[in-house]
Amino acid sequence: MQHDLVTARNAGRTASPLLPDPSHLSLPDSAVHVWVLNDYLIEPACSTLAHALSPDERQRARAYRHERNRNAFIARRSLLRWLIGGYLTCRPESLRFCATPFGKPVLQWPHAAKLAFSVSHTDGMTLLAFAWDCRVGVDVERWIDGLDIAGIGRGIFSPIEEEALEPARPDSAATVLSIWTRKEALLKALGMGLSGEPNAYTTEDDLQIGEGRWRASHHGTAISGWTCLDLVLGPEVRAALAVSLKAASVTFHRCSLSTWAIS
Ligand SMILES: CC(C)(COP(=O)(O)OP(=O)(O)OC[C@H]1O[C@@H](n2cnc3c(N)ncnc32)[C@H](O)[C@@H]1OP(=O)(O)O)[C@@H](O)C(=O)NCCC(=O)NCCS
Repeated sequence: MQHDLVTARNAGRTASPLLPDPSHLSLPDSAVHVWVLNDYLIEPACSTLAHALSPDERQRARAYRHERNRNAFIARRSLLRWLIGGYLTCRPESLRFCATPFGKPVLQWPHAAKLAFSVSHTDGMTLLAFAWDCRVGVDVERWIDGLDIAGIGRGIFSPIEEEALEPARPDSAATVLSIWTRKEALLKALGMGLSGEPNAYTTEDDLQIGEGRWRASHHGTAISGWTCLDLVLGPEVRAALAVSLKAASVTFHRCSLSTWAIS
């Protein structure tokens, strides 16, 4: 269904208040909330929350040629606003975003404050991560038939990562995507994404802390004081989170139809 942004805006006005009780969105220091939005909720998210989008977000939505991608953008950006509005106890439509030269969306004054967030999407799923006063990055990828497993990461992975991967290529999509998501989560937390010098950063298993934990370094120098972990979300999905908090506690929050009933 093509989503009608104008209808959504009017519907939102009559359906307000849309903000959840802020106590439902209590985010302790040193905690990270990871919200999971599955694609079957895109329509409800669009219908319920899209009224809060800014004119430039509406314009960006309209620029998507494929309806599916357009609605997915509307849903994730609307949900981002809704959740930030909850954490900062302000109206989602009052938030103003701008982008850094690397494209990272950041909140403008007066909401810039201390809330860090990161968004990632893949076919079927969106993740949104939030934490106070830190850097946070999340990445999710679904492996699909025809992925160029032999080529993925060339020029992006560091020599140490390439060496670790060598035995796994070209058969192990899971291993390649694991390293890919770790790398993107880290680089999104740092804000430059894949621009800059991605192969100067290395991500490696940190089995001393536990399975699914990893550590990062830059030109061989450890990036310390971070919590870096793989996120387990299903057999065909790989995801990772990097946050500049020591021993952060990470919790998952799945959006469900009842989420939209909070208001
Ligand atoms: C960030 C990046 C790695 C995302 O890659 P991706 O796997 O295609 O997409 P994901 O779904 O994981 O992430 C997309 C989200 O990352 C965020 N994002 C974009 N650029 C970002 C950056 N530099 N740092 C952190 N997050 C960023 C946005 O929230 C975006 O969500 P949106 O599409 O709803 O706006 C990739 O876009 C990149 O390397 N960007 C930097 C390129 C650059 O320098 N652009 C400059 C001009 S805009």
